[in-house]
Amino acid sequence: MSEKSFTLTNNETGGSIDLPMREGTDGPITVDISSLFQTTGLLTFDPGFMSTASCESAITYIDGEKGILRYRGYPVEQLAERSDFLEVAYLLLYGDLPSAQALLDFRALIGHHTMINESLTQFFDGFHYDAHPMSIMVGVVGSLSAFYHDSLDIHNPRHREICAHRLIAKMPTIAAACYKHNVGEPLIYPRNDLSYVGNYLRMMFATPCDDYEPNPVAEKALNLLFLLHADHEQNASTSTVRLAGSSGANPFACIAAGITSLWGPAHGGANEAVISMLDEIGHTDNIDKYIVKAKDKSDPFRLMGFGHRVYKNYDPRAKIIRSVCHEVLEKLADPDNPKFELALRLEEIALKDPYFVERKLYPNVDFYSGIIYQALGIPSSMFTVMFAIARTAGWIAHWMEMISDPGQRIGRPRQLYTGATQRDYVPIAER
Ligand code: ACO
Repeated sequence: MSEKSFTLTNNETGGSIDLPMREGTDGPITVDISSLFQTTGLLTFDPGFMSTASCESAITYIDGEKGILRYRGYPVEQLAERSDFLEVAYLLLYGDLPSAQALLDFRALIGHHTMINESLTQFFDGFHYDAHPMSIMVGVVGSLSAFYHDSLDIHNPRHREICAHRLIAKMPTIAAACYKHNVGEPLIYPRNDLSYVGNYLRMMFATPCDDYEPNPVAEKALNLLFLLHADHEQNASTSTVRLAGSSGANPFACIAAGITSLWGPAHGGANEAVISMLDEIGHTDNIDKYIVKAKDKSDPFRLMGFGHRVYKNYDPRAKIIRSVCHEVLEKLADPDNPKFELALRLEEIALKDPYFVERKLYPNVDFYSGIIYQALGIPSSMFTVMFAIARTAGWIAHWMEMISDPGQRIGRPRQLYTGATQRDYVPIAER
């Protein structure tokens, strides 16, 4: 901990206060304002958390200016090249890479929990056939809170661990069942001899009449996408999970809250919105028109998959996904995929446009991911569901980190009140 302090002077009273400055292992110095209100009666104002570190965390590090992303210190590029999603999930949960035996055990444990309680399978029937799969997922994952009472003491580290394993294991089963409900096919049960990703693809694409052998190219591509989406420090959905969990709430319900936050088009819902946008643009000839729309403040249209609160440089995840797009499209679909060509051209034009350059707006993780999902045969309504499967590893790692922190307290932001000051009730006859 640093001895440095930050002096805050009140120009009105001339008084000043020294606030401790804290240094993490990497990243900006942080001014600790937690005692400010108690000592001065002043609040700080930071809507959207533009300058606020909401917690301490040792899980993921981002340097937005340099385009750096590391899970537990490991550069995401190295993990993308050499690791896989389940190993990364282990890394996020436990802090270090597993030994060969620990990884085998972890894979087996996750396999052990892939089934969902049979009565939960009936929940899907309560949804209309054309319900958005994210709406089904929010409901069904929230409903997990009604099960597994054997492991719901959040103050018991072993219970927290079992809960994390259950969530990581059951999310693909729930996600695939959301899809099956949409297409009117029976739910396919998990098969634990397959890999995490292979099992998911089979649960999505097999039917009772036709089994499905996971295509190794599809498996590799999806594994990479899951790995790249596994965590991203204190983004909106992770912060939602933390805030919901800070009251001691049921962890399954907290993850459902995270899924809700992820769904929005400014966050994880952007991957679906990118494909709709590319469909709407239709042809490279129309790009200029849409760039004008994106820059027009009176037009709600934004270039989806562009811009990021933290990255003011190319999102490293987008760089990796863009580079594997060619390979996946070549092996699985039309190598001259017109949507990919359109996306590449759109990126090229936007990155030369002063509006995007000045605001440091670059493609984010969602810009190219949908093109790969489509090549795998996954419909766009399922894109954010795919994101949720992967991000569950990060959400639950953050929830565990928060609950196991002895200094943890309920998250309770304050406000700058701008409503009416005190006034007296007026009887209805006099209004
Ligand atoms: N298209 C056009 N203009 C944009 C875009 C965009 N995609 N993104 C930001 N801008 C502009 C804003 O209008 C604003 O301009 P101004 O300074 O003239 O007012 C400026 O760039 C800064 O943007 P903010 O919205 O203030 O930035 P913020 O950090 O609050 O928002 C966000 C970040 C939500 C990601 C935004 O860039 C956006 O809406 N992008 C499109 C949606 C998207 O792709 N979301 C996925 C993000 S990644 C993820 O969550 C997995």
